[in-house]
Amino acid sequence: MKKFILVLLLSLSYLETATTLQLLLNNITTNGRLSGNVSDSATMRCEVVDNTADETLMWYRGTQQVDIKSENSVNISYVCIEKLTAEDHGVSFTCLLKSNTSMKLSVQLFVLFDPILTGDQQMFVEEGKDVQITCGFKANPAATMFWRQNNSVITLPSNFEEYMTTDSLQLTIKKAEKANAAYYSCVALLTNGTEVVQVIELIVEDRKVPLPVEAIAAAVVVGALVIAFGLFARRDKIIRCKKSRDDTAM
Ligand SMILES: *[C@@H]1O[C@H](CO)[C@@H](O)[C@H](O)[C@H]1NC(C)=O
Ligand SMILES: *[C@@H]1O[C@H](CO)[C@@H](O)[C@H](O)[C@H]1NC(C)=O
Ligand SMILES: *[C@@H]1O[C@H](CO)[C@@H](O)[C@H](O)[C@H]1NC(C)=O
Ligand SMILES: *[C@@H]1O[C@H](CO)[C@@H](O)[C@H](O)[C@H]1NC(C)=O
Ligand SMILES: *[C@@H]1O[C@H](CO)[C@@H](O)[C@H](O)[C@H]1NC(C)=O
Repeated sequence: MKKFILVLLLSLSYLETATTLQLLLNNITTNGRLSGNVSDSATMRCEVVDNTADETLMWYRGTQQVDIKSENSVNISYVCIEKLTAEDHGVSFTCLLKSNTSMKLSVQLFVLFDPILTGDQQMFVEEGKDVQITCGFKANPAATMFWRQNNSVITLPSNFEEYMTTDSLQLTIKKAEKANAAYYSCVALLTNGTEVVQVIELIVEDRKVPLPVEAIAAAVVVGALVIAFGLFARRDKIIRCKKSRDDTAM
């Protein structure tokens, strides 16, 4: 009886150790965050602890599996990013246990970088037409975004509308006037006073003069005359050749 209990205890404790296998990602047992400045390197280390045999690890970057060497996959595995970029911000790396993929841990990258602005350098609009000036932005930490017109803060005229999305600043000008031609600067202002600027030059072109009706009518008449003349000329030829055939028939 004692022997039986002992065996039972042993097997229970064996079961327990077999199932208390754990994952550690950057030394912690929970999902975490990894901060870094742009261009810094980042290292992620995933480790299996309390395992009784070789355990193979796998990595995903977002939903994409990461290629790792087989020698970097047993019991402990590293993924290194040589230089962090703005594109890495917010991306999650997940380490999974191959034998049981429900055992996994993630680390989300938090990359600090200067604001990145994008936009056309020049835009053209015909006087009287609407135009939308768009400045794309990406920033972490967040920046205050606003427009300047010829280096002065814009007090939006009534034909201007400002609109902001999570990744773009837009300025819509309704019925553009010549006076709206200017350098529009999309500004990203950081709390430390740093400014990143993207300048977009708006050129307001002359109204395109529509073709006068008389000119169009004259062109149509000329075209019709040419066609008629061509027909007459051909008819003349047809008649003539009929005549000549009549001649030969004779
Ligand atoms: C994790 O722990 C190891 C040793 O216990 C240590 O060398 C390493 O610096 C730690 N890594 C992190 C990211 O804390
Ligand atoms: C980023 O760089 C700044 C100074 O350049 C430093 O103070 C800060 O600690 C760095 N942040 C991280 C997450 O490495
Ligand atoms: C992996 O861990 C297990 C359990 O600790 C150990 O028996 C095995 O030798 C380790 N494998 C490698 C390649 O380190
Ligand atoms: C896989 O891991 C989960 C979470 O730790 C656990 O609940 C489950 O029993 C494991 N499945 C197997 C087949 O070991
Ligand atoms: C902006 O400056 C340009 C030349 O420097 C000037 O031609 C234009 O009229 C100015 N626009 C406004 C709205 O001040």
